[in-house]
Formats: sequence, structure tokens, C-alpha cells
Amino acid sequence: MPAETLVTMAGGIRDVALAFTVGGLLAIATLLPVGHRAVARAAAIARWASVAWAVAAVAYVFVSYAFIRNSPVDPERFVEEVWAFVTTIDVGVAYAQMALGAIVVSVLAALVRTPVAAAWSLLPVAWALGWQAQTGHAAGAADHHLAVSSLFLHISASALWLGVIGALLLMRGPLGGDAKPAVLRGSRIALWAAVGIIVSGAANAWLRLAHVSDLWSTTYGRLIVLKMLLMSLAVALAARHRRVALPRLSDEQVRERFWRVMMVDVGALVAVVLTAVVLSGTAPPVPIEAVEEPSPAYFLTGYELPPAPTFLNWLTLWRLEILSAFAVVTAGAVYVRWATRLRRRGDRWPWHRTAWFLLGIAVMVWITQGAPMVYGMVTFSGHMVEHMLLVMVAPLPLALGAPVTLALRALPARTDGSRGPREYLRGVIDSRVLRFLSNPIVAAVNFAGSLVVFYYSPLFEFALTNHVGHLWMLVHFTLAGYFFANALVGIDPGPNRPRYALRIVMIFATMAFHAFFGVSLMASEVLLAPRWFGLMGRDWGPDAITDQQYGGSLAWGIGELPVVLLAIGVIIAWRRADEKEARRKDRQAERDDDAELRAYNAMLARTAQRDRDR
Ligand code: HEM
Repeated sequence: MPAETLVTMAGGIRDVALAFTVGGLLAIATLLPVGHRAVARAAAIARWASVAWAVAAVAYVFVSYAFIRNSPVDPERFVEEVWAFVTTIDVGVAYAQMALGAIVVSVLAALVRTPVAAAWSLLPVAWALGWQAQTGHAAGAADHHLAVSSLFLHISASALWLGVIGALLLMRGPLGGDAKPAVLRGSRIALWAAVGIIVSGAANAWLRLAHVSDLWSTTYGRLIVLKMLLMSLAVALAARHRRVALPRLSDEQVRERFWRVMMVDVGALVAVVLTAVVLSGTAPPVPIEAVEEPSPAYFLTGYELPPAPTFLNWLTLWRLEILSAFAVVTAGAVYVRWATRLRRRGDRWPWHRTAWFLLGIAVMVWITQGAPMVYGMVTFSGHMVEHMLLVMVAPLPLALGAPVTLALRALPARTDGSRGPREYLRGVIDSRVLRFLSNPIVAAVNFAGSLVVFYYSPLFEFALTNHVGHLWMLVHFTLAGYFFANALVGIDPGPNRPRYALRIVMIFATMAFHAFFGVSLMASEVLLAPRWFGLMGRDWGPDAITDQQYGGSLAWGIGELPVVLLAIGVIIAWRRADEKEARRKDRQAERDDDAELRAYNAMLARTAQRDRDR
């Protein structure tokens, strides 16, 4: 059998087995009540599918090497050659990491006994998917970051969708008449996954098709059309389920018909995945060619140098980073959905909190998709603007939006012993790690200190040269800023908030620290990340060290305004708390005829009497 066919077969088994592994683990983690008879079936699905995934992923390494080598192999040297392939060649390393991730999951899946353990076992799955996203056509594509991020989102969402409905189908026996809650939960996950697939599939297709006509004039395009048709069938069936079958799932007959239709649904998605594997082995209309003489900026960042920064360019330069865009926009949409849910059931949720949160989301969209991200890649000062907006500006309105409080109020509590989003959120909030990170002192140290640790350690270059590093930077500094702002002016659960006076002290302490950090950069003659900013080859703006010093003044400048706003926020909260306390005391005095004042006066009288006696 030709190596190419073996690659497609191993790839197909790998991707379908991966999906069922995810489905089995998710069923234990969140679809099923603890102790339900279907849990054993879900564990068996996760166990066997993960073994199939691991075997296919390992086989994929060997058959891919044979296919890439494309010449007869000396059997004695084959393993040695494959070892060189998986240790020195980027795509070989990626295949090996995928196989490693699959092997780790297959071991964990054999040990999983609780929903939380099943949830944790999904982490190495994300690791394997992260490496898979760096292979195929994404590896050499122009706009490499978008290609890799959109493929990661795409294959994660497809594993979720096929996994959830595939696992539900295989659990239909033990689920019996209890199917409805599990199916409802599964269909919500499938809905979000479908949104993720469409967004990332469109981005992927956009990168690989030169013109819309490629959809019908090229093999690659026709395969995408086939995928979209199969997907539309799956979506139509799912919509019909939700409308017709789901409300009446307790009826045995309806349930039988439901599972039969679900078989078609799963069949359609398995067909899509197999089509996708063929697609990833088919040459796309936009050829993947190495750039002949890349400019220094293109060589380092994968993008040409942006135009010199002007006021207009700061507003009009955009570049899609699909993962952060999907996360930020989804956060905004979910927030509005929850606030609407509260209002619909007659609970109050202050409009200004929604306004604050959406303002924070808008700032995050600009930071992660706009000029701060674009200039942050090529100049130190641009990076400092991106960083300061991320840690100082966006978190303040986000914290004032009180998203965690809203989530705990809007998310329904599970009553059947299963763990849903609310239970996991509660678990995270009450965890020792979160209690430590949200402690006001720790939040202040993290807020100010991680700035210095980040810029004066290899982390800075890691975040510049590696997309995962960049995404980690986005998450870390947004959370650092959120914990600090929440400790000072937020209402979200977590920290024991210090007295207002101490909060003011903390604010000015971090302010001084930022000023010190800014001044040290302004005075420094040592270039940070020299192999990046020193080699960028910019034909505009000051030289790298002057730009870094300018970055120092920005760190100082941009940092001060949000800190002043924080201080104003604390003072307003302080005054409000005092007024509230005064009102409470007044009400108390009215209720108990001013017992406190009378007790105080009595104490004074006793003291005076004692003095007189003495
Ligand atoms: C709107 C519909 C969709 C579009 C436009 C789309 C487009 C794409 C594109 C362009 C790729 C990259 C192929 C390459 O490497 O060149 C891809 C890969 C992939 N797609 Fe889709 N897709 C869609 C729906 C789906 C669905 C519904 C699933 C499964 C549930 C799916 C599963 C996959 C998988 C698993 C891969 C990676 C294949 C591999 O590298 O092994 N896609 N898709």
C-alpha cells in the first residue's frame, strides 16, 4: 500500500480516536452525574479510544517519515532515521509530541475515576492538539500565526463536537431514560464547538484559497465544499433534535428515533473528519512557498514591517489573532447572555457593570487584534504600550464588570451530582491557588513584580519568538491586572479586601514601583531582547536602544493614569462604605433607640465617675 494512503488512514484513525477520547473524558467531567451507570461506559470509551489514538499517532510518525523520505528504506537504519526525524526535523518533532501527548492521555484515561481527574486529563490533549496545529499546511503558510491558531481552534472544536455526540451515542444503552440532561449538556457544547469550527474553518480556507472560485475549480476547494455540506447536514439534524426530539426524550419511541438520527449525525461528522485528513494532504490553491529573501522583520515575525506609527495607524492597523479574538468576543457575548438571563428572571444586574465589562472587552479586542499587538512585535515601545494596556488599562473595567459574580448568579447549579460550569467555577474560586493569587498583597506583588521578572528574563524573548509565549503573556498579565483591580475596587469573590487606607498605600506603592521600573529603562543602555529588536531592520523611528528608553517613559506615563483612576475608585468606594455604615448605624439607632450612643455615654459617665472617686 502506498505510503500516502497509509498516512491518510493513520491520520483519519488518529483524528476520530482523538475525538472519541475527548468525548469520553468530557462525559465523565461534565455530562454525567457521579456514580451513574453510564460513567463506566464513558471511561471505557476514553480508555479504548485513547489507546487507538496513541497507536495511530505513533504509526503516523513512521508512515509520515516513510512518505516524506519517498525512497526505499534500509530496514536496519529505519528506526535510527526515524529517531533523527523526530528529534531534529520540526514536523517530525511535532508528530512525536502529538504521539507523546496521546500516550500520556491513554495512561491517564485508564486511571481516571472522578470528573475533576477527567477534566485535568484534557490538558495533555490540548498539548497534542497544539503540536498538530503546527503541522500540515499551517507549517509553511504565510501568516503563520493565524494558520496555526485557526487550525488549533478548528481541530479542538471538531474533536469536541464529534467527541461529545459520538460518546453520547455509544452511551445510549446505560443512559436509558436518563439521556435528556446529558444530551442537553452535550448539545450546548456542540453548539459552541460548531461556532468555533465555522470561524476557524473560514479563516483556514481564507488562507489557502486564492479566490472564491477555487471552491469549485480546485480539488482542495471541492473538498472544503464537501466538508461544508456534510457539516450543514450535521447542523440541520442537530437543530431538528433540539426542536423536536429533545423536549420529548423521556418518551421511549422518540428516544429510539433520536438515537437513530444521532447515528447519521455522528456518521456525517466522521465523514467530515476523514475528508479533512484528505484535505490536509491535498495541495492548496495558495502554494506554500518559502519567501526568497525575507526582510529581517519578516524573518523574525513572519510579517512584513508595519508602516511607521502615526495616530491614524494606531487606530487602523489590525491583524487577526483568532484564538484571543475568539476568547475575548465569546467572553463579551456570554457576559451579555448572562446579564440578560438575570433580567429575564427578574433579578437586578446594574447596567453600569455591563457597560464597564464591554468597555474592557473593547479595549482587549484592540490590544490583541490592533496596533498594540502589531507594533508590540517590532518595537520595544510598542510592546510596552501593549503590555501597559493589558495589565493596567483593560483589567480595571473588566473587574468593575464583576464577571465572576455574574457567572455565579447566572449559571444554574447542578442538582444531579454532575459538575457543570458553575461547580467548576466555584471549585476554582475556592482553590488554594486562586485564594493565594487573589490575596491583595500577592496580587500587588504579582502586578508590579512580574513586570520586572518578565522583561529582565528569557520570558520576554520567549513571548516575542513563540506564539504560545505571546498567548501566555496575554493571559498572565490580564489576570495579574484583574486580581489587583478586583482586590482594590472589585466585588468579585476571592480576596479578603484590606482596609481602604491600606488599599491607597498599595496603589501608591505600585505606582512608585512602576515609576522606578520606567526610570531604570529610560536610563539603561543595555538592549533587552537584542536578537529581536536589534535585528528588526526598521526603516522608521529611533534606533533600538532609544526606542527602549522611550518605552521606559511610556511604562511610567501610561501606568500612572489607570493607577490614579484606581485610587479615585478606592476613594469613591471608601466614601460609599462610610455612608453605608453611617446609614446602617442610623437605622440601628432608630431600632434600638440609640443603644450604642447610650452605652458610649454610660461608659464615659463611668469613667468620669471613676476619675472623680480617685
Ligand atoms: C465550515 C466548515 C469547514 C471549513 C470551511 C473547514 C476548513 C478546513 C480547512 C481549510 C482545513 C485545513 C486543511 C489543511 O491542512 O490544509 C481543515 C482542517 C480540518 N478540519 Fe475542517 N472545515 C470545516 C468544518 C469542519 C468540521 C465540521 C470538522 C469536524 C467536525 C472539521 C474537521 C477538521 C479537521 C480534523 C482538520 C485537520 C485535518 C488534519 O490536519 O488532520 N472541519 N478544515
